[in-house]
Amino acid sequence: MQEPKVVIAPSILSADFGAMREAVLALHDGGADWIHFDVMDGHFVPNLTFGAPMVAALRPHCNLPFDVHLMIEHPERLIPDFAAAGANGITVHAEACVHLHRVIQQIRELGCSVGVALNPHTPLEIVRHILPAIDLLLIMTVNPGFGGQAFIELMKPKIVEARLIIERSAPHVLLQVDGGVSPENARELTELGAHVLVAGSSVFSAPTPQEGVRALRFALMSQKA
Ligand code: DX5
Ligand code: ZN
Repeated sequence: MQEPKVVIAPSILSADFGAMREAVLALHDGGADWIHFDVMDGHFVPNLTFGAPMVAALRPHCNLPFDVHLMIEHPERLIPDFAAAGANGITVHAEACVHLHRVIQQIRELGCSVGVALNPHTPLEIVRHILPAIDLLLIMTVNPGFGGQAFIELMKPKIVEARLIIERSAPHVLLQVDGGVSPENARELTELGAHVLVAGSSVFSAPTPQEGVRALRFALMSQKA
């Protein structure tokens, strides 16, 4: 039986911000499935990146799904802007939402896929009651805020546990792993249960972004048992 295809969602956080259009075109050319936008506000995380205008600027140049990861406080204030800018999926951090179910409804009503992200320390229990209402669960495998950090090995059991919970109670939910993903660990992460892999520095540290994406795809295929 054909194995379900693993989704590769490169993060543009590690791209050259002075040539973002070219970076996205190269990712598309290299076979990326989604484009991952790491939005940071300097409050929820100690870094500041870009807002909805970046999504809007790139939307006309790429028809891949735009996977927007909001590492911001009060995401409900900006979700409409990202939906209007052309986001296909919007992921909020459970830790940033006092009324998470209301934010899930807000994203859904705007016609976007709904994701919830958990920081490394946050237990899976926090999403138990709302898991059936979302489309994607993002397990952070680094502390959010920066690219190029080392994968937190402690998160591997969490990935396994998350996939079991999804299979048991919300099998439609995609499990996304984000942070420290590379060709060296990609295959293992999918065997642990990841459906979607986010990678930034491992893609943009390759000679070209195309080669970075292809290295991930090859790693997913070549180490088949
Ligand atoms: C970190 C971001 C990640 C990060 C991934 O806060 O959410 O998407 O950019 O970058 P790498 O692959 O370099 O860890
Ligand atoms: Zn991210």
